[in-house]
Amino acid sequence: MSERQPEALLLDGVSKAYGKTWVVDRVSLTIPGGSFFSLLGPSGSGKTTLLMMIAGFVTPDGGSVRLGGRDLTPVPAEKRNFGMVFQGYALFPNMTVGENVAFSLRVRGLGRAERDARARAALDTVHLGGFEDRFPKQLSGGQQQRVALARALVFEPAVLLLDEPLSALDKKLREGLQAELREVQRRIGKTFVCVTHDQDEALSMSDRIAIVRGGRIAQEGEPDDLFENPASHFVADFLGESNFLAGDLTPAAEPGLLRWHAGATGLVQAGQPSQAGPALMALRPSKIAIASGEPCGMPNRLPGIVTGSSYRGTAIHCRVDTPAGPMSVSLPSWRAPFNPEPDQRVWLSWAPDAAVIVTDDRA
Ligand SMILES: Nc1ncnc2c1ncn2[C@@H]1O[C@H](COP(=O)(O)OP(=O)(O)OP(=O)(O)O)[C@@H](O)[C@H]1O
Ligand SMILES: [Mg+2]
Repeated sequence: MSERQPEALLLDGVSKAYGKTWVVDRVSLTIPGGSFFSLLGPSGSGKTTLLMMIAGFVTPDGGSVRLGGRDLTPVPAEKRNFGMVFQGYALFPNMTVGENVAFSLRVRGLGRAERDARARAALDTVHLGGFEDRFPKQLSGGQQQRVALARALVFEPAVLLLDEPLSALDKKLREGLQAELREVQRRIGKTFVCVTHDQDEALSMSDRIAIVRGGRIAQEGEPDDLFENPASHFVADFLGESNFLAGDLTPAAEPGLLRWHAGATGLVQAGQPSQAGPALMALRPSKIAIASGEPCGMPNRLPGIVTGSSYRGTAIHCRVDTPAGPMSVSLPSWRAPFNPEPDQRVWLSWAPDAAVIVTDDRA
């Protein structure tokens, strides 16, 4: 348990170039102390490089990293007191679990009794009390990953940095450990900065997420806010699935609404970024209703023809060709009021506040 509120981690214009390429480009972020913060982005977007600069293993070419008021930029990695959990977790195979966890304490010159006590406490934290005398090969992948976590927590780091900590595990195990990692973080109250390219993982574990694209932060915020209010095509597309309708916006007679036209005409909530002119609308497949007859009273409706559907357990995913282009619709499968058949004529409809206007940053 920490005695006081952990300090925020501040990145101010942090940059890194390899050759002529800026792989991290003027990243500024505030990572609140005691939060679970995820860096989410596609492969090669610069997540690991950013994490390595926070850790001190990579020296920035510009900008600074601060913890509270203290500038960490000149502080070497071993003096930052940050814990690291890497992808692949690499436990020492010839050491027991207890020795693996206590290793960093031995390096720091702590005595035997204290090492053992702290290793035991760290293993208890990850629910592996009693596993001290086993060897890594006698553990499951998930248990090994928890040993790696205990090894990083044992010296009570100010901040824990995790790079794809669960990517080596299968889906079921990964989901179990996501919940556990989150629970450990809440219990000890430390700042966790976690790199992942798995959007479900980021959404389920994080207090805040920064979406990384091409070395920059595309958007940063709380998971539900990012999901509901993506600012750009990239974020709407990367974080979950979206339909996109390109069209024109014009003022509507109704207050707070704009009229859109994209092969059909409808109404959308007027928000911050939306103004009259060409615009791109993002619409989640789960926010669209599908019916065989034309819905009355819905300002947004499109006729269409079902081109295919697939059963995904909790949902049925359906592809529909419309005058505004192909659309994806997702309906709950349990007691589905409607069973789409290929070539069937249908109507899609949605509420004005279901769609968001996004920046068109398509490459
Ligand atoms: N030491 C290096 N020398 C040259 N280029 C590098 C070096 N390290 C990383 N890069 C390049 O920088 C870019 C960002 O790499 P980085 O490892 O940070 O991406 P990432 O977002 O972690 O990707 P992934 O999800 O695949 O792990 C990539 O194009 C990579 O090839
Ligand atoms: Mg990486």
